[in-house]
Amino acid sequence: MISSSEGVEASAVDPVEPLVHFRTSREDDLMLWSKKYSVGVGIIDREHHELFDVINDVQAAVTVRQDRECIGALLRELAEATRAHFASEEAMMEKAQYNGKMLHALKHQRLQEQLDAFVARFDRGVDLNKHSLTFMRDWFLPHILETDCNFGVWHVEHSRK
Ligand SMILES: [Fe+2]
Repeated sequence: MISSSEGVEASAVDPVEPLVHFRTSREDDLMLWSKKYSVGVGIIDREHHELFDVINDVQAAVTVRQDRECIGALLRELAEATRAHFASEEAMMEKAQYNGKMLHALKHQRLQEQLDAFVARFDRGVDLNKHSLTFMRDWFLPHILETDCNFGVWHVEHSRK
């Protein structure tokens, strides 16, 4: 049971959790969810897991050479889900008066700019390549394990006071 204020809210919504359909992992997934990626705040964990799913969906579409329309739609979904998630995390940091918010938000902004550039390049007719997806993975995993976990620990500790 998470004791933070957001955690209490997360617990309050837990009854609907079974309605959140995380997709079944596949062996060739780029992003494999495991407990080590939990930051200790339910809402953030759920959003991260959803982002893993979308990145894996984009990768699967690229691998099987889906049509451009499908890949474009998934890429846009990824960009918007990432934007919404960053806004959600930053709102939590603001509410908790987290002293690391500015630097954390700057990291989000840089990734979002890169992701938006991938979308713009795709819209100009350049196909999405696998390097763009491994770039996303190599950004997200250390970010979750370090930057987001730092906030998660801080959030849980400060919400006890
Ligand atoms: Fe973050």
